[in-house]
Amino acid sequence: MSKTVLTGDRPTGHLHLGHYIGSLKNRVALQDEYNCFIMIADVQALSDNFDNPEKVRANVVEVCKDYLAVGINPEKCTIFIQSLIPELFELTVYYLNLVSVSRLERNPTVKAELQQKSFSESVTAGFLTYPVSQAADITAFKAQLVPVGEDQLPVIEVSNEIVRRFNRVYKTDILLEAEAMLGNVGRLVGIDGKAKASKSLNNAIFMSDPSDVLKQKVYSMYTDPNHVKMSDPGMVEGNVVFAYLDAFYEDKEELVSLKAQYRKGGLGDTTLKSLLNGTLQNLLDPIREKRESISGATVLDILANGSKKARKIAQQTLLEVREAIGLIDIAQ
Ligand code: TRP
Repeated sequence: MSKTVLTGDRPTGHLHLGHYIGSLKNRVALQDEYNCFIMIADVQALSDNFDNPEKVRANVVEVCKDYLAVGINPEKCTIFIQSLIPELFELTVYYLNLVSVSRLERNPTVKAELQQKSFSESVTAGFLTYPVSQAADITAFKAQLVPVGEDQLPVIEVSNEIVRRFNRVYKTDILLEAEAMLGNVGRLVGIDGKAKASKSLNNAIFMSDPSDVLKQKVYSMYTDPNHVKMSDPGMVEGNVVFAYLDAFYEDKEELVSLKAQYRKGGLGDTTLKSLLNGTLQNLLDPIREKRESISGATVLDILANGSKKARKIAQQTLLEVREAIGLIDIAQ
């Protein structure tokens, strides 16, 4: 039997090129061979947007459109909504017993996210424990492969710790550990040169960006502030245009010679930006076009069907989990 793949995204905005390179590309590649599930994690999105449910609700549809636009095929891959699978939250409660508060507080991903966010007083219990809920997402489907961006590695590690602890404590082997699968570019920098492209930092290129917005973002990219005249030698390291060319430009040999030329002097930023703009327009043109053709009604239909199918599987796992724990079983 083929392996099960599960992954997901928080619907807090449209998906951007960081998502594409980090995991969407892998998902499209995996869907032919694996049993694939993609979850729109609206409940997890509430963990840092509990006061903005309208945003989360609206973006469930937008994220699904992004999936379909990049080529995820709902015939091959089950796309579903987290909040329609209540079994996940019962699993979460059982798993919360299997991890310590200090272990969760030490999680580098959660720590980094907290720094960016506006928890005015202190972190909520919901946000601190989102990795536990993510363990429920992964294990409910017995996923063995989880395509994610590199920042999610510590979260997958928590999930595997919970799996091992569950199986040991309840003397079972029903839960499976999962392996993270990374994209070939670990992390895409923001157009401003900050370490990570993200919606909240307002430095990302969205797959749905119209062509003029895309062009404007490319031309505003951070390069080398000391590379003033075309003839000046320039820095490739830390130069956002080269980081994006590394991620998206197919002709790697030419890229090597462009870098050499830039370092030496004699290659202008505008020439490079124009090359990158062309590359990204070619990538996004068909994606934008496909996105335009997808109706909201189609999306809702896909999500309703996918969620129904996903729920059956989660229900089955929950039965096994309740039995393994040894909860009282009274026919109702
Ligand atoms: N935490 C992931 C993100 O922020 C989204 C997510 C939720 C997820 N549940 C998951 C990813 C399960 C992989 C597996 O992008």
